[in-house]
Amino acid sequence: MTDFDTVDYFTDPALVPDPHPYFDHLRAQCPVSKESHYGVYAVTGYEESLQVLRDPSLFSSAIAVGGPFPPLPFAIEGDDITELLEQHRAQLPMYEHMVTMDPPQHTYARSVLNRLLTPARLKENEDFMWRLADRQLDEFLAAGKSEFLADYAKPFSLLVVADMLGVPEEDHAQFRIVLGASQPGTRVGALDDEVLASNPLAWLDDKFVRYISDRRENPRDDVLTSLALAKYPDGSTPEVIDVVRSATFLFAAGQETTAKLLSAAMRILGDHPDLQQTLREDRSLIPAFIEETLRMDAPVKSGFRLALRDTTVGDVEIPVGSTVMFCPGAANRDPRRFDNPHEFQLGRTNFREHMAFGRGVHSCPGAPLARVEGRVSIERILDRMLDIRIDEQHHGPAGDRNYRYEPTYILRGLTELHVTFTPQS
Ligand code: HEM
Repeated sequence: MTDFDTVDYFTDPALVPDPHPYFDHLRAQCPVSKESHYGVYAVTGYEESLQVLRDPSLFSSAIAVGGPFPPLPFAIEGDDITELLEQHRAQLPMYEHMVTMDPPQHTYARSVLNRLLTPARLKENEDFMWRLADRQLDEFLAAGKSEFLADYAKPFSLLVVADMLGVPEEDHAQFRIVLGASQPGTRVGALDDEVLASNPLAWLDDKFVRYISDRRENPRDDVLTSLALAKYPDGSTPEVIDVVRSATFLFAAGQETTAKLLSAAMRILGDHPDLQQTLREDRSLIPAFIEETLRMDAPVKSGFRLALRDTTVGDVEIPVGSTVMFCPGAANRDPRRFDNPHEFQLGRTNFREHMAFGRGVHSCPGAPLARVEGRVSIERILDRMLDIRIDEQHHGPAGDRNYRYEPTYILRGLTELHVTFTPQS
């Protein structure tokens, strides 16, 4: 039995398969409770999470990704560390990406994205998704079984981001190889092992520097050109590298998370044949199914904020310099907000209130994309895979399943998902 009062949430593998009993334990003590190992304030209540996420002037995103690791590069002094943080910001991990920025820099960085994620572009991207879903299913359907993450969820979510950014289709296979979403053994043209062995994110930055520089010199009628020519709200032109970072960060933020949503949805379909049947009979329920999946299995497990001044969340005093952790999955199962929170209920009236995409100025700009990815995928999967079952050889029988989750405190998702089905051509 894990002792929830002493367990280290950040490193103990015991909490990986199911963090919810731990979150419930914390919330039962207090929706804002100080964890004992690193002094992190864990926020597991719904309203309390909203309070933190909606006030970037009090809660900085500078430590959004790493939380207590590494420790702050400066000592806390005085009752307001806003200035101190600005002096040391460049020493923090991922400081150059919008997820760690605060307004007004954050507002600037995000404005470049707004140029990209327009309703018209989302519509074009959805057209691509329908084609891509079938193309992806064609790769493995005839086998009647699949490791769903490698066969579908990872390549699908990767190529949707690539298409959203306007990466030409002839480069897609290369992106799959470098970003680890291709079938084992696949090789494409001039891409040699040296490139594959090098840092994939550096490869991505380099590729986009070339795309963006090229489109600035030779504008075309394409998405990369509109990204390359995007201006900041004050009319100034961003440096190439800043545009590139807005673009490449989408792969980091949008691939793994969506792959985790898709595999969670597939697991639920396999584990609940009755629910699968309900969706087969009424496809209009698919969007609600995706939302309830996001509520139950939020792919982002925890994110972090830095308290810039002494403050209070709920009834709890938070001293200046504290690390505050919000947990979308915990907020999504707060019984004060959701009745029977641990139950998957398709008919929940407030299913849209989940916090899987965060809240406030950093709330996920890719949410509309991820939702459509979920809807399109489940539609085509139900069309083309009949009688989807969890593969018992890999995961054990119903009622005694064995699922492995990625051992990280930041994201929650399956490492593998084996399913069987009857192909429908
Ligand atoms: C199911 C899929 C997804 C989930 C659960 C998810 C979740 C989140 C969450 C919780 C945040 C807020 C982080 C914070 O407040 O510190 C966030 C931010 C972000 N997401 Fe997503 N995301 C998903 C898909 C995507 C996709 C498909 C894209 C783009 C292609 C994307 C791009 C981003 C970006 C750029 C940010 C940073 C926004 C900012 O700092 O203003 N996400 N996401």
